Amino acid sequence: MADAPLYGFSDTSFQAAGGIEGIRQLVDDFYLEMGTLPEAKIIREMHKTDLTESRDKLTLFLCGWMGGPSIYREKYGNINIPRDHAHLAIGEAERDAWLLCMERAIAKQNYSVEFATYLLGQLRIPAERILSASKK
Ligand code: HEM
Repeated sequence: MADAPLYGFSDTSFQAAGGIEGIRQLVDDFYLEMGTLPEAKIIREMHKTDLTESRDKLTLFLCGWMGGPSIYREKYGNINIPRDHAHLAIGEAERDAWLLCMERAIAKQNYSVEFATYLLGQLRIPAERILSASKK
């Protein structure tokens, strides 16, 4: 079928991202960008100094979110992204900084242009929900 969606059903996104190892690499690069980009200083400061747990949590969350195994839930329990960010002051600058780090990290992966564009577009959805649920 010519217009069948390429991603977003079953585990197609998880596979396109290279499974758990691919997602781990994406998240490592994401936090490297967060530690380097001047625009991201505001959001790096919201995180703990040691990013080990943040890396693991985001990796495992994204696995399930992309249609792969639900390891986050097994290890850390239930998560609701807007609710679990509601204690943070996240406005447009923080949202843009987060998405910029993701955009840069995605660009470093060996993804097809189609998947890179799709993934960043999908990540905007929870990022917007966080913004509306935040105190800022
Ligand atoms: C909109 C901009 C965002 C900012 C500024 C932000 C910031 C943060 C911060 C500071 C933490 C650590 C919280 C703490 O230690 O209390 C965190 C945790 C987390 N974030 Fe975000 N985040 C954003 C967007 C997202 C999005 C879009 C996702 C998912 C696609 C996400 C997934 C997660 C996950 C899974 C955790 C770990 C939650 C936990 O188990 O405690 N974040 N985020």
